[in-house]
Amino acid sequence: MELTTEEQEMAEGKYGEATRKAMEILITLGEIYGAKRLIEITSVQVAGVSYANLNEPGLDWLADMANDGRVRVFTTLNPAGMDLEEWRKLAINEEFARNQQRVVDAFGRMGIITTCSCTPYLYGNLPHYGQHIAWSESSAVCYANSVLGARTNREGGPSALSAALVGKTPEYGFHLEENRQPEIRINVKTQVKGTYQFGALGKVLGDRLGDKITYITGIPKATVEELKSFCASYATYGGVALFHMEGITPDRVKKIPDESIDVTDADMKKAFSELDDDTEIDFISLGCPHASLSELEYIAKKLEGKKINPKKEVWITTARPTKQIADRMGFTKMIEDSGAKIAADTCCVVAPIKGRFHGLASDSAKMCYYGSGRNKFSVKLMSMDKCLEEAME
Ligand code: F3S
Repeated sequence: MELTTEEQEMAEGKYGEATRKAMEILITLGEIYGAKRLIEITSVQVAGVSYANLNEPGLDWLADMANDGRVRVFTTLNPAGMDLEEWRKLAINEEFARNQQRVVDAFGRMGIITTCSCTPYLYGNLPHYGQHIAWSESSAVCYANSVLGARTNREGGPSALSAALVGKTPEYGFHLEENRQPEIRINVKTQVKGTYQFGALGKVLGDRLGDKITYITGIPKATVEELKSFCASYATYGGVALFHMEGITPDRVKKIPDESIDVTDADMKKAFSELDDDTEIDFISLGCPHASLSELEYIAKKLEGKKINPKKEVWITTARPTKQIADRMGFTKMIEDSGAKIAADTCCVVAPIKGRFHGLASDSAKMCYYGSGRNKFSVKLMSMDKCLEEAME
């Protein structure tokens, strides 16, 4: 890879040890993927924040990087393993909380904005069309490439952090126009509405086509919430980082593919039946990806003056800034008076809750995937309204 004089000096350690290590990672990646150079980026989103995933070796590495590493571009974090302020409310133990805070502090020392969220685009980490970025949360990567038209590969935690410390990323993959063209056309021949149905559609496409770049037709409109759910599911079931949705994705494609497949009612029914373990529900998870303000408002109005079943636990995960506005608007009180919990900064997959619950209901197909695979819960995908009804039964 060709390096500028400044990059060469970074690689030699002139800008400190953390920058040297970061350059080593970026150069290695660039060589593996055949990048010719590093390109400037405008924002970074770093995953690998939960202490449950990092443990001591991961934390040691971060602490080393934080000795002299400082980020050069605007950088935010993916969810942590707990609500950083109200972790006791979620029954997180003291030792985990102490260690999780050490992780967040290490990121903070590097100049990273320690708001922990998988929907950075909802609160200020919002790239525009054509900007090069280095994000790592898979649902956010898919959203950034496909809905916003930004350019990012699906970074791992260390490569995203390295990009933040250098302010650059190797130019390969989705940073190059020739790698962003669709390979197959999808004709959606069924009506898709609501976050849970968009999640099911993501599963249908991901299961069937893996990470092929698709050109999707037949979706006349979609809300931000439906698209974030779709991106989360499609990225989970198919490993997808980019799709083109007619009328939504801002990229202009060179040619709409001739090869096509249809998605029908039967495909959607099959996806729903595969995410229905027909089980007793004791845990309801909403806010995957992190709930928007309008979702919190909707949930608050649905729960106002009602009580959830005390034998069931409801977590609504969201970003801290979104919760702060919800606090001011009275939505948090309306939700928490019902017995449901708003969990900011965190996510039900990276929080240490394995074994605490048995049956999970969610409007997110991604949450069902990890709830079953990682936390060993039985799962059921249903609409947000049905999840809330289930919580009150
Ligand atoms: Fe976000 Fe966790 Fe879902 S990171 S996308 S809330 S699994």
